This record gives sequence, C-alpha cells and structure tokens, in this order.
Amino acid sequence: MTNDKGKYYISTPIYYPSSNLHIGHTYCTVMADAMARFKRLCGYDVWFLTGTDEHGQKIQKAAEENGVTPQEYVDRIVEGIKELWKTMEISYDDFIRTTEERHVKRVQNIFMKIYENGDIYKGEYEGLYCTPCESFWTESQLVDGCCPDCGRPVEKASEEAYFFRLSKYQERLTELFEGTPEFLQPETRRNEMLAFVRRGLDDLCISRSSFNWGIPVPINDKHVIYVWLDALSNYITALGFDDEPELYNKYWPCDVHLVGKEIVRFHSIIWPAMLMAMNEPVPSHVLGHGWLLLEGGKMSKSRGNVIDPVKLIERYGIDALKYFLLREYTFGQDGIFTNEVMLNRMNSDLANDLGNLVLRAVTMIGKYCGGVIPESKLPGEHDDELKALATGAAAKVEGFMDKFAFNLALEEVWALVRRTNKYIDETMPWVLARDAANKDRLDTVMHNLADSLRIISILIYPFMHTTSKEIRKQLGMWYADVAWEDAFVFDMANGEQVKKGDAIFPRLDIEKELEALEQLQESAQSVPLELKPEIEYDEFDKMDFRVGLILEAKKHPKADKLLVFKVKMGTEVRQVISGVADDYTPEEMVGMKVVVVANLKSRTFRGLESKGMLLFGENGDRWDIVTTTAPDGATVC
Ligand code: MSP
Repeated sequence: MTNDKGKYYISTPIYYPSSNLHIGHTYCTVMADAMARFKRLCGYDVWFLTGTDEHGQKIQKAAEENGVTPQEYVDRIVEGIKELWKTMEISYDDFIRTTEERHVKRVQNIFMKIYENGDIYKGEYEGLYCTPCESFWTESQLVDGCCPDCGRPVEKASEEAYFFRLSKYQERLTELFEGTPEFLQPETRRNEMLAFVRRGLDDLCISRSSFNWGIPVPINDKHVIYVWLDALSNYITALGFDDEPELYNKYWPCDVHLVGKEIVRFHSIIWPAMLMAMNEPVPSHVLGHGWLLLEGGKMSKSRGNVIDPVKLIERYGIDALKYFLLREYTFGQDGIFTNEVMLNRMNSDLANDLGNLVLRAVTMIGKYCGGVIPESKLPGEHDDELKALATGAAAKVEGFMDKFAFNLALEEVWALVRRTNKYIDETMPWVLARDAANKDRLDTVMHNLADSLRIISILIYPFMHTTSKEIRKQLGMWYADVAWEDAFVFDMANGEQVKKGDAIFPRLDIEKELEALEQLQESAQSVPLELKPEIEYDEFDKMDFRVGLILEAKKHPKADKLLVFKVKMGTEVRQVISGVADDYTPEEMVGMKVVVVANLKSRTFRGLESKGMLLFGENGDRWDIVTTTAPDGATVC
C-alpha cells in the first residue's frame, strides 16, 4: 500500500463517559472506521481520532450519585469504551481523553490565545440556563419558553463569567456557509445553521463557577472552562497544538468531523469561530449524521431500552453488525433499529448472497479443478458482463464514499455479489463438468468466479476487513496484501490453492433469534435504576404531598408549553403551572384528582405564579399525570 494521495484526517465526536455506549454511538464510530480504512486502502495518509469528553456538571453529578470521585467514575467507563472499540477493531490512531494532562494544558493555552487576541472578556452573565444541557440561552433562542435543544424548562441564572466574542464572527461564518457549501452537509443542516447565524449571534458564555469538574480558567481559578470549549479543542490538542506542532502541521485542517445531527451547531459555528479567533484554519467538512431510533422513539438508558452492541457482536460477529449498520441506514437521515430488520439483512445479504457465493466457489474449484484456480482459456457468454461489472465497481464505490453514502457503496458491491451468483446459475458448471470436452470452458468459468470473488474481497475490506481476509484465505490469496488498485483489473487469480473453511456467515433461524434477542434485552433491562442519592426519612418528611382536584385548566397566555390550573385541596384553591401542554389539552384535565407537592416554594412562569407542582410520570415521549381516588386535600405519604 502506498501513501501518496496526501493526508486525510477524520474524527468522531468525543463521547461522554456518563454511561456505557449503545448501538447509536457505535454507528458513528463504525462509519468513521470504514472511511478511515477506505482512505488508507486508497493510499491516503490517514489520521483517525476518537476519545472521551469527561468534564462537566453532568459527569460530576453522576459521580456524586455513585459515591465516587469524577475521575474514578470516568476512568471506569472509559475503560469500557476502549474495550468496546478494541472488540470492534476500530482502527483509530489516537484516543484523546479530556482529563489527560496534554489536553488540559493545551486547552488553557487555547483560552489564553483567544483572550490575548481580545476575543475573551469578563462580564456578568444573566441568562436562562438549561441544567441538563449545560447551556445558557437568550430569550430569543428559546422555543415556547423552553430549551431549544431538549425542550425542558430553563431557569434564570446569574454569575460572573468569561465570554467569547462569537458575535464578531457572524459575517465570517455566513461567508463560510455561503462561500463553501460543502463545508457543512447535508444541505438541510447547512440551511438550518445559516439561518441560525443570520438571526444574529450572541457572545458565548465560556466559563462556569457553579461546579468545579472542569479545566480551570488560567487567569481565574474560581472558574472552569465551558465543557464545549474544552471538548471541541480535542481535535487540535490531540495533534499537539501548539507546543508540539508536528502532527498539527501535518494533519490540520481536519478533513471530516463526523458528528450527530444535534451537535452540528457546536461544530459548524462555535468551533470555526474559535479557530478564527486564533487565526487558525477551519475544518474542511462537518458532516451531520442522523440518529438510530427504536420503534417507540429514542434509545435512552433511563428508559432501559438501549441496544448493547457487545451482545449483538457476541451473537453475530463484528462484521455482520458493521455491515448491517453501514448498509441499512442512509447517511444524514434517522433510521429505525429493529431486531427483525437486522436479522433479515444479515440472512439475505450475508448468509444467502455472500456466504453462499464463497461456499459455492470454493467447493466447485475443489471439485472440478483439484482445488487450484485455473487460468482463463475459453471465453463465453456472460463473461464480459461479469468482468465489466467487477472491474467497474471500485470506481463507483469511490464515488459513493466521497458522499459518505456507505449504503450505496455496499449496494454496488452486492450487485456484483449477486451477479456472480447469477453467473454460476447461467453457466451451470455442473452441466459443463459432465463432458470432458467442456474442460476449457469449465476452467474459465471457475477462473472468472474466483477472480470476481477476489475483487469482492477487496471491495468489502473497508467495511468488513475480517471477512475480506477470510475470503482471501479460502481463495488461497492469504499471501498478498489487499490492494485497492487490484480491484480495477481482472484475471489476477491464477494457480492459487483454495482452502475450504467454515461458512463465513451461517444462516440464522430468524424466529429463534428474535426470541433469544428479546430474552437478552429483557434480562439486560433488569439493571438497577440509576437513582438520586439516598435520603433520610426526615428529609422525605419535609415534603407535603396533597391530593388536589383540578377545577379549571387553561393555556398560559405567554408560553405554549405551559398549562395553568386552579387546584382545590380541601379548603384551599390555588394556581399551579405545569409544562404539559404538548401532552394534555386543558379540557381533559379538568376533574382529575392529582398529586401536588404543596409546600414547594412558589415560582413565576412568564408573569404567572405557580404555588406547588403536579406530579407526572415520564412515559416515552410524553408525561402522564399521576392520579388518585383519595379525597382532595388528603395528605399523600
Ligand atoms: N461529548 C459530546 C460531543 C463532543 S464532540 C467535541 C456528545 N457526546 S455524546 O456521547 O452525547 O454523543 C456522542 C455522539 O453520539 C453524538 O454525535 C450523538 O449524535 C451520537 N449519538 C448518540 N445517540 C445516538 C443514536 N441513537 N444514534 C446515532 N447517534 C447517536 O455529544
């Protein structure tokens, strides 16, 4: 393999080690790995970076809830993440952890660079803060009065803080989106981001003083650096920016930041602006992929519905899982994961099409040619069509890979797999074998079959390198490295001794597998709930829960997501506000007997006071009200 095509730097997001990764996370890493392997095979000098994003309030809270230090907490999870990538043979060149010394000191350096260039200043932040997202928002960014990212209510918060002059880069960012359309893909994301920038950018609060699990602001150790500024910097701190700049000079700017759709904004607006503030080049491409969803909606640990990639790998193998992820879903769009779709895909494409082809080819070469791949001697019908398809596939795969269309690239390869199977049916070697006069033609058919399979083994390498090697082993080609340029030429197979092995993808009994997977998923679900820290009875006893009868309900005049209730609790009628207008109409709630946290300090929502809180149960994407038959005013305990 040569390295003469230039450099290619690809990154995945750095994952939060707040819990173990699920199949949705592996999706992005599998895509990046396939691309890295593909580019290496094509002769690029590839740098593939992944890692973990270990600071922030969420991690600090999770550690507290588990009774360990944040560092202990992340160390344990990061070990599991590295183990997962090892099992999946992810070919990263570096794994960066944001708690590593090399990262910490370089992030501080980045902060200072921007500060010294005049783009960081100290101010007073008075804003609306979404705790789960660790994001401050301005009034104009809220959607129906709630966090635009997660839809949850935000709170007023004020603190001394450092700000990044993001607003200064509005024009340059607009130019970037308009002048370099390929910078951000897919097109829909680019349009969204361009509209976001055009609406006007506010300066960004980039320090926090309400918790301390982060990188200290170098000029003020009461503050830690905002987790996104810390995290985004990983793409250059891992390259040694800027105290050991050798890798940086070689690989920056990044060719592709592969990221999920919900973090495109950080990568295409904040990150380029940070680089602009340091007079450094911006990444060449940011690509936003869609999400893997379940039929009932999102995968989430709290819902106990996450799909564990390790379980699937143990049962079906790494290559089958990788193939499924890359073949089934369209880049940029969301896709639904179901066991059935996965199993059917594995059976039809892997066991039936590819597995069968390998078995047929190796068996027939054994039977008709003494196990040695013969030369081509007598061309015949169908040969040219097969050869044209086989030698034309690599260029088409390249074209699709340029667009990150993994599914179409694989479809192209499978067109060849199916055509080769059809070639066997058309040429009917078992009929040719009946008459010795057909020997030259039979040899030629076997030769073509082996050579088509040789090309297939090269084409699948970026996506399934183990299977690629296994096919080459069975074809007796184990001695040669896989070389992409060999996929463009026919007639290379000649004289190799084939060696029959096990079926590369055994056929699955779908019914049986569905049952087994369901059982696995059920047993995985009986993991203990992640609870808040234990409390004493006395603490619980401070809370006054009462039964309330909803007398009246109406929409909040200034916030679409809020409902305003008049609730009777025995002798008292009071006003309570809840953010459930998406889940309930006011009419259907009147007459319900509900549970009220009656001694909760009152709060004002958009000018209306709420005295107390109604209890709801999370149910998928909606909130279900907790009701009771006890009389209103009764104490609930
Ligand atoms: N730590 C940040 C990224 C910082 S990058 C400088 C983060 N971490 S994350 O662990 O929450 O998510 C990492 C990636 O996993 C995101 O790109 C996200 O889109 C992706 N996915 C999480 N769940 C997913 C699915 N169900 N499907 C596909 N990708 C998903 O965000």
